[in-house]
Amino acid sequence: MSKFSFSKLRNRETAWCWAGIGPLLFLGLVNLPKAKVPRQVPPDRLQVSPLANKGLPPSALLAAWRTSDPLGRSCSKCHAPDGLDLADFDFNKQDILRRALRHLSPTEAEKAVDLVEWRRQGLPVRFQNTIGEPLMQPGGKILPGNSPIQKDDEFVKRLSQQIPQLFHEVVSLQQANDLLKALRQSNPMHLRVGIKMSRLSEDGFFGSQHALVNEWLPENSLPNDPAFSTLQDAYLAHPNWKTLQTMLEAVVKMKGMKSEADALSREKFLALTIFQHALRMKEGLIPSKPMPISLFEALGQNPFWEVGNTCRLSQFLQLRSYGLAPDVLAEKERGPSFKKQMKAMELAWLWLGFCFDPSLEHSGPRKDVPRAKYLVDALLDGDKYPSHMLYLLAKKTAAQFEEAKEHPSTALGTGFQFEFDPLIYSDKIQEIAPSAEPAKSLFIQGVRALFEASLYWQIEAIQQSGKVVYPAEELSQIRIMASFLAKTGSPRLKLVQQVRQAVSQ
Ligand code: HEC
Repeated sequence: MSKFSFSKLRNRETAWCWAGIGPLLFLGLVNLPKAKVPRQVPPDRLQVSPLANKGLPPSALLAAWRTSDPLGRSCSKCHAPDGLDLADFDFNKQDILRRALRHLSPTEAEKAVDLVEWRRQGLPVRFQNTIGEPLMQPGGKILPGNSPIQKDDEFVKRLSQQIPQLFHEVVSLQQANDLLKALRQSNPMHLRVGIKMSRLSEDGFFGSQHALVNEWLPENSLPNDPAFSTLQDAYLAHPNWKTLQTMLEAVVKMKGMKSEADALSREKFLALTIFQHALRMKEGLIPSKPMPISLFEALGQNPFWEVGNTCRLSQFLQLRSYGLAPDVLAEKERGPSFKKQMKAMELAWLWLGFCFDPSLEHSGPRKDVPRAKYLVDALLDGDKYPSHMLYLLAKKTAAQFEEAKEHPSTALGTGFQFEFDPLIYSDKIQEIAPSAEPAKSLFIQGVRALFEASLYWQIEAIQQSGKVVYPAEELSQIRIMASFLAKTGSPRLKLVQQVRQAVSQ
């Protein structure tokens, strides 16, 4: 039995197998070998954070933090377990008190403020929320430009300097592998994009333009679950990826979250808790270390991706029927269009999800996830970001190829597949290309190089694993790639012929 991977679930023939072993896995009767996770931070490195050693806060302060208001909401069920999310930002005492008084009596509210102040001791940095950049903005800053088109053009210009291999013909396996290497080294979290991420807190107190649902903090509270405090205690006593995971697994399993607003809040809470953990580990606003993929696999989802996906599903709802508590609804109703907010969040968070799982093989069990169809749609719908899409498909394909190579012909393996369907079935590659030069030529060249390299990778993958999962599907994608190559330059007939042969054998 090989490693667990969501990609395996895409293979219909193996679904029965998961139906069989799923319950056994759940009961812990089958101990699958752990996935090789080179990106995981070694646990010993995590223990050195001074905050990690600070442990549990004074109990009276923590008790206030966990006291529910009449609607069952407590700071601890929306914010970090000890207020670190607030402590590390520049919210002043007055603002913390103002917010605390929404939920607590004045005496208890003071204690909640004190908890944040206690947590602040020894923290070297105080990040700005009010005027600062959004959280986890890849590369630290949004790209310059007056419109999405300009930003997208800027993106491809910079990309052509960072990954020049993607903008030259790929005429040999060696060159395909050079491109692979360059893509492997490129970290999407460090690549500036034209997409604006969400800020931590958007408080309508500062004007109706801030009365947003487009923020990290969850509008709805987790349900009441006394056992959850015990898990929070265990985490605060020893904050590491393992105690974090146990806590988050409990959140995924919580019952009683029914509305769409509940669903989004749960995902936000998961993402926020991972973010505060990165902060606790002194990672700053853009984690320099990758997320452990095993965390997403344990949760059965990638919360960053899932925030985006939940917004995708919610954008046709009305704010009123969305499921907010009356006090929150009254405030958020003063804000800008709900639909626009959901669309903006869909794009931003799907992108963030991709940054943390570039192959998208570990982000959720649905087979459409690794295809990235929704992210491609979001990049091309309304404001258009074709060059961002080019990078997404290149990075994703390279990561999927490498993962397929690592686990070539396993019992559950699906092998490497072309997954350019969202791009090529729409038959609009040239139509969606940027209109201004040099972005236009760079984009066309980039798609060509990606197709060429992928054809080489496919031959290699088939040679290595000795199989093709869906030959008919592969052949139809090859036909469209070949037609694009023929339309835009050298048709690469020999290469195309070689792949056809490999796939048909
Ligand atoms: C139901 C979830 C929920 C609960 C419970 C909750 N908060 Fe918040 N909090 C939020 C959200 C959402 C925001 C972002 C601003 C907004 O949407 O109004 C926020 C924002 C804040 C801010 C930043 C405000 C700013 O200036 O931007 C502070 C400070 C804060 N909360 C403190 C607290 C304290 C202290 C408690 C407990 C007494 C608490 N919150 C309980 C959800 C919650």
